[in-house]
Amino acid sequence: MAEEVLEKLILEKFEKKIRGRHSTVYVLGGRVVKVFKKDLSYNFWKEVAFLSYLQPRGFVPKIYAIQPSSSSITMEYIDGKNIGELAKNGKLSAKMVIDCMDVCRTLDTLMIQKEEMSRPEKHIIFRDGEPYFIDFERSVITPKPANVTQFTSYLIKKFKIESELTDLVKEYKRKFDEASYSELRSNLMRVLSSEL
Ligand SMILES: Nc1ncnc2c1ncn2[C@@H]1O[C@H](COP(=O)(O)OP(=O)(O)OP(=O)(O)O)[C@@H](O)[C@H]1O
Ligand SMILES: [Mg+2]
Repeated sequence: MAEEVLEKLILEKFEKKIRGRHSTVYVLGGRVVKVFKKDLSYNFWKEVAFLSYLQPRGFVPKIYAIQPSSSSITMEYIDGKNIGELAKNGKLSAKMVIDCMDVCRTLDTLMIQKEEMSRPEKHIIFRDGEPYFIDFERSVITPKPANVTQFTSYLIKKFKIESELTDLVKEYKRKFDEASYSELRSNLMRVLSSEL
């Protein structure tokens, strides 16, 4: 079926409709159509750019179609639970958190600042144990992104963990290299393994 016909079908027969601050998301049959609000075509194009660029990485939803005329993106529906719900229900393991941290590190090395990592609750969805990052409309390119540092601050607050993390994250922020990331990662793994 042509993608435009499918999109029309999803907009008419959706199973679920979710209102975000910048868009409305319609869900049907394993796909979502994210329709950006009028006047937010810049956000639409940014999300198209970042999602397209990140397709080969496997941690973002697959894009099926883009419709500039209606500022909408048809993409894969990640049918799972977000990190906020999982944390609340005690269903988050240390490995799951570390997998998210590795995605944050990848985004840092790609110079993509996602912009939501200190409040990631709804922005990371787990399906079959794998994390998917959604909503890139506010992302920016910057030489020193803060995904790892923001996500670490979230974890420190959320799980009330401290240890040497604060110093290690400062060191990472300063050096931004693989060795300081590795130190931070192992420390986090150790702390979380006893917490979660
Ligand atoms: N590909 C997807 N798979 C599963 N759920 C999705 C997907 N895209 C969006 N959603 C759901 O729709 C909600 C809103 O999507 P999104 O965050 O992309 O919209 P937004 O308008 O940018 O929201 P915000 O107000 O956070 O900026 C998400 O919290 C999530 O529940
Ligand atoms: Mg958004």
